[in-house]
Amino acid sequence: MQYLFIPGRLPQLSEAELKSVLETFITAETTVNAKSDNHFLVRTDADQDDIVDVFQRLGGFIKLGIEIEDQESFLDLYTDNSNITFGISYYPYQGKKYSNIPSEFSHKIKSFYKAKGISSRYVKPDNNILSTGQILQREILTKGFEISLIEDRDGKVSAYNTLQIQDIEDFANRDYNRPGYDKEMGMLPPKLARIMVNLSCTRENGAIWDPFCGSGTILMEALMNGYNVIGSDISEQAVADTKRNILWLANTYDMGDQKYTAFVHDIRKFNSRERSDLRKTDFNAVVFEPYMGPPQKKILRPSKAETLLDEVSSLLEAAFIFFENVKKSNLIVVCVVPSYRTTEGWASLRYNSFLSKRWKIKGPKDKTKHLHWSRSNSIIRRNILIAELKR
Ligand SMILES: C[S@@+](CC[C@H](N)C(=O)[O-])C[C@H]1O[C@@H](n2cnc3c(N)ncnc32)[C@H](O)[C@@H]1O
Repeated sequence: MQYLFIPGRLPQLSEAELKSVLETFITAETTVNAKSDNHFLVRTDADQDDIVDVFQRLGGFIKLGIEIEDQESFLDLYTDNSNITFGISYYPYQGKKYSNIPSEFSHKIKSFYKAKGISSRYVKPDNNILSTGQILQREILTKGFEISLIEDRDGKVSAYNTLQIQDIEDFANRDYNRPGYDKEMGMLPPKLARIMVNLSCTRENGAIWDPFCGSGTILMEALMNGYNVIGSDISEQAVADTKRNILWLANTYDMGDQKYTAFVHDIRKFNSRERSDLRKTDFNAVVFEPYMGPPQKKILRPSKAETLLDEVSSLLEAAFIFFENVKKSNLIVVCVVPSYRTTEGWASLRYNSFLSKRWKIKGPKDKTKHLHWSRSNSIIRRNILIAELKR
């Protein structure tokens, strides 16, 4: 079967996430075709339910569709309804803006139902593509269906039936309605936290440690995906916020029997009791965003950025030495490494300024596909580093 995955704002990060989750959870023969940035086609022998499960784990994708092989029999599925709402999103081949294909398609659908005495309502997108918000508001998936039309380079159009859209309200709920947060320190967007958890390729029932847990965004997203979690932070307040947020999560969502623990710990302290406890703890991956200095509102002077980067670099160096000491091998670390926008362009860290030779950098084979998260006006860009401790 062929499935359509529509990424969110940052397709390269989403592509890496999708490949990690498919590799970790799907054993059936599967290929990802990523010819265009605005959609990915996944051909697989896996069961549909397993692909829906994969989609629900993701932070970087907004829509999942399944190829419609026979359009007539697909429309027949809805003939029991007396009133149908449907939408069409059109994904043209790169660069092309306008086409009459969606309106021709909608006319065909309307006349199909009219001939059967069924009234149908077409929700037209403003700009080729219906947003997840529109699909939700107009209840398109409960009152009918959405079809995505994908045009290939030769102008051939294939149709996909939308199975799921991203639960954006749920991500927003965890972002804004949790009881504990620290605006000063800054919180990771939950979708990015989810993507980072997924990039760690942790298997079912595995455990994830966030040693800079703040108010626990990464831990919450890891728990949502069924993992056990360990959180630590130098700040007592942060650990208290994390605990409150995890309790809120457990009361708000239907969780499994995942375990969690959170404690105060300074990652630069090598002789701590926590270090010997962590040596005995079985965790599979470390996922974190380090302290990156106070929030920045203005573009920085290069010298200021250099000072901030030096501080982050020494904190990261201490953290990676700590990880080498608590875990023997095969440990995966997924972390944010900041770049700062300066009056002379972006100032960044070289990964080998804080990583010893014991670490192998993983990530997309295509080096131009740099993984990062930012907005067009951001002062800080969050680069995503994936590193594995060699044997
Ligand atoms: C950017 S915040 C993490 C935010 C978190 N990802 C969230 O979304 O809530 C960085 C955290 O690192 C913690 N921190 C700073 N220095 C530390 C150290 N040496 N060891 C452990 N934690 C530290 C801070 O207290 C802060 O909570």
